[in-house]
Amino acid sequence: MIYRTPDALDFHLDHTPSLPRPRRVVLTTPTHFDIEYVINPHMSENVGTVNKEVAWQQWKAVRAAYTALDVPPVVVNGRPGLPDMVFCANQTLPFYDPASDTKGVVLSRMHSKHRADEVPYYAQFFEAKGYKVQSLSDGLDADFEGMGDALWHPGRHLLWGGYGYRTSLEAYEALDDLLEAPIVALRLVDPDYYHLDTCLCPLDADHALVAPEAFDDAGRALIDTLFETTIDVPDHEARNQFACNAHCPDGTHVLIQEGCTETNDRLRDHDFTPVELDTSEFLKAGGSVFCMKQMIW
Ligand code: ARG
Repeated sequence: MIYRTPDALDFHLDHTPSLPRPRRVVLTTPTHFDIEYVINPHMSENVGTVNKEVAWQQWKAVRAAYTALDVPPVVVNGRPGLPDMVFCANQTLPFYDPASDTKGVVLSRMHSKHRADEVPYYAQFFEAKGYKVQSLSDGLDADFEGMGDALWHPGRHLLWGGYGYRTSLEAYEALDDLLEAPIVALRLVDPDYYHLDTCLCPLDADHALVAPEAFDDAGRALIDTLFETTIDVPDHEARNQFACNAHCPDGTHVLIQEGCTETNDRLRDHDFTPVELDTSEFLKAGGSVFCMKQMIW
Protein backbone atom coordinates (compact mmCIF):
# COMPACT_ATOMS: atom_id res chain seq x y z
CA MET A 1 0.00 0.00 0.00
CA ILE A 2 1.27 3.46 -0.90
CA TYR A 3 0.37 6.38 1.38
CA ARG A 4 0.47 9.93 0.00
CA THR A 5 -1.53 11.91 2.58
CA PRO A 6 -1.75 11.70 6.38
CA ASP A 7 -5.53 11.06 6.18
CA ALA A 8 -4.85 7.83 4.33
CA LEU A 9 -2.66 6.35 7.09
CA ASP A 10 -4.56 3.36 8.45
CA PHE A 11 -1.85 1.83 10.66
CA HIS A 12 0.14 2.75 13.71
CA LEU A 13 3.93 2.63 13.43
CA ASP A 14 4.16 0.35 16.48
CA HIS A 15 2.09 -2.23 14.64
CA THR A 16 4.34 -2.47 11.59
CA PRO A 17 6.69 -5.49 11.63
CA SER A 18 10.03 -4.78 13.25
CA LEU A 19 13.20 -4.80 11.18
CA PRO A 20 16.65 -5.16 12.73
CA ARG A 21 19.21 -2.47 11.96
CA PRO A 22 21.65 -3.43 9.21
CA ARG A 23 25.11 -3.87 10.74
CA ARG A 24 27.57 -3.74 7.84
CA VAL A 25 28.46 -0.91 5.51
CA VAL A 26 29.44 -1.01 1.84
CA LEU A 27 31.84 1.73 0.71
CA THR A 28 33.14 2.30 -2.82
CA THR A 29 36.65 3.65 -3.40
CA PRO A 30 36.86 7.16 -4.92
CA THR A 31 39.66 6.12 -7.32
CA HIS A 32 37.72 7.40 -10.34
CA PHE A 33 35.56 9.99 -8.55
CA ASP A 34 35.34 13.27 -10.45
CA ILE A 35 32.83 15.74 -11.80
CA GLU A 36 32.55 15.17 -15.52
CA TYR A 37 28.90 16.13 -16.17
CA VAL A 38 26.10 18.06 -14.46
CA ILE A 39 23.03 16.10 -13.35
CA ASN A 40 22.07 18.10 -10.24
CA PRO A 41 22.32 21.82 -9.42
CA HIS A 42 25.19 21.31 -6.95
CA MET A 43 27.50 20.08 -9.71
CA SER A 44 27.02 23.02 -12.06
CA GLU A 45 30.05 25.11 -11.12
CA ASN A 46 32.27 22.18 -10.24
CA VAL A 47 33.18 20.25 -13.39
CA GLY A 48 36.84 19.25 -13.20
CA THR A 49 37.41 20.74 -9.72
CA VAL A 50 37.79 17.58 -7.60
CA ASN A 51 41.07 17.33 -5.70
CA LYS A 52 41.63 13.55 -5.92
CA GLU A 53 44.12 13.40 -3.09
CA VAL A 54 41.84 15.30 -0.72
CA ALA A 55 38.87 13.14 -1.80
CA TRP A 56 40.86 10.01 -0.88
CA GLN A 57 41.74 11.36 2.57
CA GLN A 58 38.10 12.33 3.21
CA TRP A 59 36.87 8.90 2.06
CA LYS A 60 39.39 7.17 4.36
CA ALA A 61 38.12 9.26 7.28
CA VAL A 62 34.56 8.12 6.51
CA ARG A 63 35.75 4.50 6.46
CA ALA A 64 37.59 4.99 9.75
CA ALA A 65 34.50 6.52 11.36
CA TYR A 66 32.45 3.39 10.58
CA THR A 67 35.20 1.11 11.83
CA ALA A 68 35.41 3.12 15.06
CA LEU A 69 31.66 2.60 15.58
CA ASP A 70 32.02 -1.18 15.07
CA VAL A 71 30.29 -1.12 11.71
CA PRO A 72 32.63 -3.18 9.53
CA PRO A 73 33.19 -1.76 6.01
CA VAL A 74 33.03 -3.96 2.90
CA VAL A 75 34.86 -2.18 0.08
CA VAL A 76 33.87 -2.14 -3.61
CA ASN A 77 36.36 -0.80 -6.17
CA GLY A 78 35.28 2.21 -8.22
CA ARG A 79 35.54 1.80 -11.99
CA PRO A 80 37.01 4.04 -14.67
CA GLY A 81 34.48 6.14 -16.56
CA LEU A 82 31.96 6.03 -13.69
CA PRO A 83 32.82 9.13 -11.63
CA ASP A 84 29.67 8.94 -9.42
CA MET A 85 30.04 5.23 -8.57
CA VAL A 86 31.45 6.26 -5.17
CA PHE A 87 27.88 7.22 -4.17
CA CYS A 88 26.96 3.61 -3.51
CA ALA A 89 23.60 4.32 -1.86
CA ASN A 90 22.05 4.93 -5.25
CA GLN A 91 22.34 1.73 -7.33
CA THR A 92 20.37 -0.60 -5.04
CA LEU A 93 17.80 -0.81 -2.27
CA PRO A 94 18.84 -3.56 0.17
CA PHE A 95 16.07 -5.44 1.97
CA TYR A 96 15.83 -8.10 4.63
CA ASP A 97 13.06 -10.50 5.57
CA PRO A 98 13.67 -11.66 9.16
CA ALA A 99 11.03 -14.41 8.93
CA SER A 100 12.83 -16.27 6.13
CA ASP A 101 16.28 -14.72 6.80
CA THR A 102 16.32 -13.56 3.16
CA LYS A 103 18.78 -10.82 2.23
CA GLY A 104 18.34 -9.08 -1.07
CA VAL A 105 18.60 -5.94 -3.15
CA VAL A 106 16.34 -4.28 -5.69
CA LEU A 107 18.41 -2.84 -8.53
CA SER A 108 18.00 0.80 -9.48
CA ARG A 109 17.03 2.24 -12.88
CA MET A 110 19.18 5.35 -12.93
CA HIS A 111 17.49 8.49 -14.20
CA SER A 112 20.69 9.71 -15.88
CA LYS A 113 22.33 7.65 -18.62
CA HIS A 114 25.70 8.74 -17.19
CA ARG A 115 25.10 6.53 -14.15
CA ALA A 116 23.32 3.52 -15.72
CA ASP A 117 26.47 1.41 -16.09
CA GLU A 118 27.18 1.55 -12.34
CA VAL A 119 24.27 -0.76 -11.56
CA PRO A 120 25.62 -4.04 -13.07
CA TYR A 121 28.76 -3.81 -10.89
CA TYR A 122 26.62 -3.75 -7.76
CA ALA A 123 24.40 -6.53 -9.15
CA GLN A 124 27.51 -8.71 -9.52
CA PHE A 125 28.77 -7.73 -6.08
CA PHE A 126 25.52 -8.69 -4.35
CA GLU A 127 25.04 -11.84 -6.44
CA ALA A 128 28.51 -13.03 -5.41
CA LYS A 129 27.54 -12.46 -1.77
CA GLY A 130 24.48 -14.69 -2.18
CA TYR A 131 21.88 -11.91 -2.03
CA LYS A 132 18.61 -12.24 -3.88
CA VAL A 133 19.00 -9.67 -6.68
CA GLN A 134 15.70 -8.33 -8.02
CA SER A 135 14.86 -5.98 -10.87
CA LEU A 136 11.79 -3.86 -11.48
CA SER A 137 9.71 -5.44 -14.23
CA ASP A 138 10.88 -4.83 -17.81
CA GLY A 139 7.60 -3.32 -18.93
CA LEU A 140 7.68 -0.62 -16.27
CA ASP A 141 8.65 2.82 -17.55
CA ALA A 142 9.95 4.31 -14.30
CA ASP A 143 13.18 5.60 -12.77
CA PHE A 144 14.38 4.44 -9.38
CA GLU A 145 17.56 5.51 -7.59
CA GLY A 146 17.76 3.06 -4.69
CA MET A 147 18.56 4.50 -1.28
CA GLY A 148 19.01 7.95 -2.75
CA ASP A 149 15.21 8.10 -2.59
CA ALA A 150 13.99 5.00 -0.71
CA LEU A 151 14.77 4.91 3.02
CA TRP A 152 13.78 2.28 5.57
CA HIS A 153 12.23 3.62 8.76
CA PRO A 154 14.78 2.64 11.45
CA GLY A 155 13.66 -0.57 13.14
CA ARG A 156 10.45 -0.90 11.12
CA HIS A 157 9.40 -2.61 7.91
CA LEU A 158 8.18 0.68 6.43
CA LEU A 159 9.67 2.44 3.43
CA TRP A 160 9.86 6.20 2.85
CA GLY A 161 9.90 6.95 -0.87
CA GLY A 162 10.91 10.27 -2.38
CA TYR A 163 9.88 11.01 -5.98
CA GLY A 164 9.84 13.79 -8.52
CA TYR A 165 13.40 14.23 -9.75
CA ARG A 166 15.27 10.90 -9.87
CA THR A 167 12.62 8.35 -8.94
CA SER A 168 9.10 8.08 -10.39
CA LEU A 169 6.04 7.49 -8.25
CA GLU A 170 5.29 4.42 -10.42
CA ALA A 171 8.50 2.78 -9.16
CA TYR A 172 6.92 2.53 -5.71
CA GLU A 173 3.90 0.71 -7.15
CA ALA A 174 6.33 -1.93 -8.41
CA LEU A 175 8.20 -1.98 -5.09
CA ASP A 176 4.91 -2.38 -3.26
CA ASP A 177 4.49 -5.77 -4.99
CA LEU A 178 8.12 -6.79 -4.42
CA LEU A 179 8.57 -5.77 -0.78
CA GLU A 180 5.15 -6.07 0.85
CA ALA A 181 5.93 -3.12 3.10
CA PRO A 182 3.85 0.02 3.54
CA ILE A 183 5.37 2.82 1.46
CA VAL A 184 5.01 6.49 2.38
CA ALA A 185 5.54 8.51 -0.79
CA LEU A 186 6.89 12.06 -0.49
CA ARG A 187 6.94 14.48 -3.42
CA LEU A 188 10.17 16.47 -3.65
CA VAL A 189 9.56 20.05 -4.77
CA ASP A 190 12.97 21.78 -4.77
CA PRO A 191 15.68 20.73 -7.25
CA ASP A 192 18.50 21.33 -4.73
CA TYR A 193 16.89 18.52 -2.73
CA TYR A 194 16.79 16.12 -5.65
CA HIS A 195 17.03 12.90 -3.61
CA LEU A 196 15.09 12.11 -0.42
CA ASP A 197 18.38 11.53 1.41
CA THR A 198 19.25 15.21 0.94
CA CYS A 199 16.25 16.35 2.98
CA LEU A 200 15.10 13.56 5.33
CA CYS A 201 17.41 11.68 7.66
CA PRO A 202 15.69 9.07 9.84
CA LEU A 203 17.87 8.80 12.98
CA ASP A 204 15.95 6.21 14.99
CA ALA A 205 12.35 5.02 15.11
CA ASP A 206 11.23 8.30 16.74
CA HIS A 207 13.55 11.03 15.42
CA ALA A 208 14.40 12.44 12.00
CA LEU A 209 16.28 15.42 10.63
CA VAL A 210 14.13 17.28 8.10
CA ALA A 211 14.64 20.10 5.59
CA PRO A 212 11.02 21.35 5.45
CA GLU A 213 11.51 23.39 2.23
CA ALA A 214 12.04 20.19 0.25
CA PHE A 215 8.47 18.88 0.71
CA ASP A 216 4.89 19.86 -0.02
CA ASP A 217 2.30 20.16 2.77
CA ALA A 218 1.21 16.52 2.51
CA GLY A 219 4.81 15.34 2.74
CA ARG A 220 5.61 17.47 5.79
CA ALA A 221 2.42 16.25 7.48
CA LEU A 222 3.27 12.59 6.78
CA ILE A 223 6.73 13.02 8.32
CA ASP A 224 5.28 14.84 11.35
CA THR A 225 2.68 12.14 11.85
CA LEU A 226 4.96 9.11 11.73
CA PHE A 227 8.02 10.46 13.55
CA GLU A 228 7.41 11.34 17.18
CA THR A 229 10.03 14.12 16.98
CA THR A 230 11.24 15.91 13.88
CA ILE A 231 14.33 18.09 14.09
CA ASP A 232 14.18 20.90 11.53
CA VAL A 233 17.47 21.69 9.85
CA PRO A 234 18.13 25.33 8.91
CA ASP A 235 17.83 25.73 5.15
CA HIS A 236 21.41 26.94 4.60
CA GLU A 237 22.88 23.93 6.42
CA ALA A 238 20.68 21.47 4.55
CA ARG A 239 21.05 23.09 1.13
CA ASN A 240 24.75 24.00 1.19
CA GLN A 241 26.28 21.60 3.71
CA PHE A 242 24.02 18.59 3.22
CA ALA A 243 23.20 18.36 6.94
CA CYS A 244 20.35 15.93 6.17
CA ASN A 245 22.68 13.65 4.22
CA ALA A 246 23.96 12.51 7.58
CA HIS A 247 23.83 8.94 8.85
CA CYS A 248 23.03 7.49 12.24
CA PRO A 249 24.18 3.85 12.13
CA ASP A 250 23.49 3.00 15.79
CA GLY A 251 20.74 5.25 17.11
CA THR A 252 23.24 7.52 18.87
CA HIS A 253 26.11 8.75 16.69
CA VAL A 254 25.36 10.94 13.69
CA LEU A 255 28.02 11.08 10.98
CA ILE A 256 27.55 14.52 9.45
CA GLN A 257 29.34 17.04 7.26
CA GLU A 258 31.68 19.23 9.30
CA GLY A 259 30.40 22.67 10.27
CA CYS A 260 26.63 22.07 10.51
CA THR A 261 26.68 24.03 13.77
CA GLU A 262 22.97 24.65 14.34
CA THR A 263 22.01 21.13 13.32
CA ASN A 264 24.60 19.70 15.70
CA ASP A 265 23.26 21.80 18.59
CA ARG A 266 19.78 20.49 17.88
CA LEU A 267 21.08 16.91 17.66
CA ARG A 268 22.79 17.27 21.04
CA ASP A 269 19.58 18.69 22.52
CA HIS A 270 17.97 15.36 21.60
CA ASP A 271 20.85 13.29 23.02
CA PHE A 272 22.49 12.41 19.72
CA THR A 273 26.27 12.69 19.30
CA PRO A 274 27.42 14.38 16.09
CA VAL A 275 30.57 12.92 14.51
CA GLU A 276 31.81 15.59 12.11
CA LEU A 277 33.46 14.53 8.86
CA ASP A 278 34.72 16.73 6.07
CA THR A 279 33.19 15.56 2.77
CA SER A 280 33.77 18.85 0.92
CA GLU A 281 35.05 17.19 -2.29
CA PHE A 282 31.92 15.03 -2.46
CA LEU A 283 29.60 17.97 -1.73
CA LYS A 284 30.80 19.37 -5.09
CA ALA A 285 28.99 16.40 -6.73
CA GLY A 286 25.86 16.79 -4.60
CA GLY A 287 26.53 14.13 -1.98
CA SER A 288 27.83 13.60 1.54
CA VAL A 289 28.05 10.78 4.10
CA PHE A 290 24.67 9.14 3.61
CA CYS A 291 25.06 8.54 -0.10
CA MET A 292 28.73 7.48 0.18
CA LYS A 293 27.67 4.25 1.86
CA GLN A 294 25.14 1.46 1.69
CA MET A 295 24.04 -0.38 4.83
CA ILE A 296 23.45 -4.10 4.40
CA TRP A 297 22.17 -6.96 6.55
N1 ARG B 1 26.43 13.34 -8.60
C1 ARG B 1 25.58 12.34 -8.06
C2 ARG B 1 24.21 12.40 -8.71
O1 ARG B 1 23.75 13.47 -8.99
C3 ARG B 1 25.49 12.50 -6.58
C4 ARG B 1 24.65 11.48 -5.91
C5 ARG B 1 24.57 11.67 -4.44
N2 ARG B 1 23.69 10.75 -3.87
C6 ARG B 1 22.66 10.99 -3.07
N3 ARG B 1 21.98 9.99 -2.66
N4 ARG B 1 22.31 12.17 -2.70
O2 ARG B 1 23.58 11.41 -8.97
